[in-house]
Amino acid sequence: MADFLEIQNLSKNYGIVPALKNVSFSISRGEVHALLGENGAGKSTLIKIISGEEAPSAGSIVINGEEVREYNPAHAMASGIAMVHQELAVFENMSVGDNIFPNTMFLSPGGFINQRKADREAKALIDLFGMAVSPRQKMDSLTMGQQQIIEILRCVSAGKEIILLDEPTSGLNREEVGKLMEIIRRLKSQGITVVYISHRIDEIKEISDRVTVLRDGVYVGTYVNDELLTEMELISRMVGRELSGTLYSARGEDGIATEEVVFEVRNFSKKNSVSDISFSLHKGEVLGFFGLEGSGANTVSRMIYGLEAADSGEAFLKGQKLKKLSPDVLVPAGVMYLNNNRKNAGLLLNSPALDNLSIPLLKQLSDGLFVNRGKMTNHAEKYINEFNIVIPSVYQMPRNLSGGNQQKLMFSICIGSGPEILIINEPTRGISVGAKGEIHRFILELIKKGLSVIVFSSEMPELISLCDRVIVMAKNRVFGEVRKGDDMTQEKIMAKAAGSVAGEAS
Ligand SMILES: Nc1ncnc2c1ncn2[C@@H]1O[C@H](COP(=O)(O)OP(=O)(O)O)[C@@H](O)[C@H]1O
Ligand SMILES: [Mg+2]
Repeated sequence: MADFLEIQNLSKNYGIVPALKNVSFSISRGEVHALLGENGAGKSTLIKIISGEEAPSAGSIVINGEEVREYNPAHAMASGIAMVHQELAVFENMSVGDNIFPNTMFLSPGGFINQRKADREAKALIDLFGMAVSPRQKMDSLTMGQQQIIEILRCVSAGKEIILLDEPTSGLNREEVGKLMEIIRRLKSQGITVVYISHRIDEIKEISDRVTVLRDGVYVGTYVNDELLTEMELISRMVGRELSGTLYSARGEDGIATEEVVFEVRNFSKKNSVSDISFSLHKGEVLGFFGLEGSGANTVSRMIYGLEAADSGEAFLKGQKLKKLSPDVLVPAGVMYLNNNRKNAGLLLNSPALDNLSIPLLKQLSDGLFVNRGKMTNHAEKYINEFNIVIPSVYQMPRNLSGGNQQKLMFSICIGSGPEILIINEPTRGISVGAKGEIHRFILELIKKGLSVIVFSSEMPELISLCDRVIVMAKNRVFGEVRKGDDMTQEKIMAKAAGSVAGEAS
């Protein structure tokens, strides 16, 4: 395969932050080339330069022997390059079909858009994923995963030469991921070049021809993906050190959890959704929930914060029965919720980090009527340091941060008000191994200071390393529980989650 896309001595600085440092490698025509690297390694920056959204500070990109002279998206698009962003970028008020073909090429001879033809084409693409969605449906009636697929389809239909995918699977379920893999194989068979960023090494192993690893903006190497290339090897190249056995720093057996119950749910039920959910959270405990797609775990995660109503059941906070279960009761009582979708869950992407960190605490940060800018800045800087957020200044907008840094910012906002209970939904979805480890460490440090945590995660290693107990859901109910020490293994959890007879004893 000839070198099709050459990246030559590429550097990019954002103010004082160097995102790429003299990176050179090349991508062959028609290959699936994966980009792997920790949070902040420069992956998104690199493909934004290829898609013309950012211009390099130094170095160049050569496509098909021709150096790119002008870095702008329209230019890249005209050369058949299309990109799916890390953050969902869809037009929620438009139809599904219009999202797939936003600047539609289905013009009739008179210059009018040929709606029927466009919808037919859109439907054909939707059918590739077997989605029960019509092209005329409004985008905001779709689930996050479905919206993400539509964005991928827009890219697939626009990218005639090179398709750039930035962590496309973070919002997809297992079946959807499988479909995406099929589509990438199909693109490859059509000779289209795919650059694929994912933090999921298993996906990269499955789909890519070669893998390029970046670390802190520096090129580490490009490796042929064959059976000799192991996942552990890739991880150690990515983080720059050898790792022994496990990915995460597991929680020690130091028995912080106490007998004291801080939060309890009794007999939560909702018709056709979940039935008879009961559990209690102890002070200083990390209680996990695991369930496969459709198990009801996701519903429970929303119900216990009042984001979805139960038909029946009771909840107790420190022994007190709650009259109402909703954020406006829970937040003042010291119960915070950290969601997985950074865009829709409270992060003001276009306001400075300073404002994001201060809003929940405006009272404490004010003197009388007026906010005290000094106090605000001190507060924000304290959290940026404590949680190791890579950001040029407190005035930077979250939009410009990598996924891991956004998540750390969200985490800081939740913790800023000093909550006693934290409910977390997929704390590290879509972020890299290094940032994952850091977030786990923050959680465990807060536990030592008396925080109690409920964590919903689809990643078993994450639950195993964090939790004292994991409640496993299957078929819309609690199917069993595993405890740290005796039986917390992936096999046991999976057996229960699959609702199998072997997992029934509990
Ligand atoms: N627009 C921006 N302004 C300031 N810093 C940025 C911007 N975009 C990215 N960065 C910084 O550049 C570095 C690389 O980021 P990124 O390319 O998003 O990494 P990755 O995608 O590998 O996680 C990070 O330190 C990030 O915070
Ligand atoms: Mg990124």
